[in-house]
Amino acid sequence: MKVIGINGSPRPAGNTSIMLKTVFEALEAEGVETELIQLGGTDIRGCKACYACIKAKNSQCSTKGDGFNEIFAKMVEADGMLLASPTYFADITPEMKALIDRSGFVSRANGGLFRHKAGAAVIALRRGGGIHAYDSINHLFGICQMFTVGSTYWNLGFGGREGGEVVNDTEGLDNMRDLGKSMAFLLKKLHS
Ligand SMILES: Cc1cc2nc3c(=O)[nH]c(=O)nc-3n(C[C@H](O)[C@H](O)[C@H](O)COP(=O)(O)O)c2cc1C
Repeated sequence: MKVIGINGSPRPAGNTSIMLKTVFEALEAEGVETELIQLGGTDIRGCKACYACIKAKNSQCSTKGDGFNEIFAKMVEADGMLLASPTYFADITPEMKALIDRSGFVSRANGGLFRHKAGAAVIALRRGGGIHAYDSINHLFGICQMFTVGSTYWNLGFGGREGGEVVNDTEGLDNMRDLGKSMAFLLKKLHS
């Protein structure tokens, strides 16, 4: 079983990354393979609304060369996915929004490629708006017949401008560990 974590922050070593790695530790302790994918800071483009994916049905987006199709193939292959983003103006980063729009369309255009996978949103924030960002990600899971994994609190962690302050949010990181355990539990049930 494999879970990928996609970091929507342009900071590869910031709070969002620390949170993902904390979930990974719990998953790996349960024997689940993990892979971290850096999305934030890349040149991923938004959906062009060309609807070519609906006509072609080839599990690809017609926009090539920006890394989307490579990431999408990993999403399709994975049993579970963690979509992680810092909060930007009470929402997700543009890179994460581009991935959601395009992967949602291509997966649905090809008969539901995300069906019955596990998904969880992971959100870093400094002060407010994190729940809205969390909801933005969960909308993808909810329309793709995926199973959404929660934790002992919503999957949020607090950290500021320097990047890395989330290590001081002990409740937030405990929550990430619980999220990893719950996702491993679900995957084992789904694959038993
Ligand atoms: C453009 C921009 C907008 C932001 N908007 C918010 C916001 O609406 N609410 C908030 O709590 N933090 C906001 N932040 C702070 C980040 O969400 C927060 O510091 C987060 O922990 C950064 O994660 P990272 O280190 O993984 O990039 C913003 C930061 C930037 C750069």
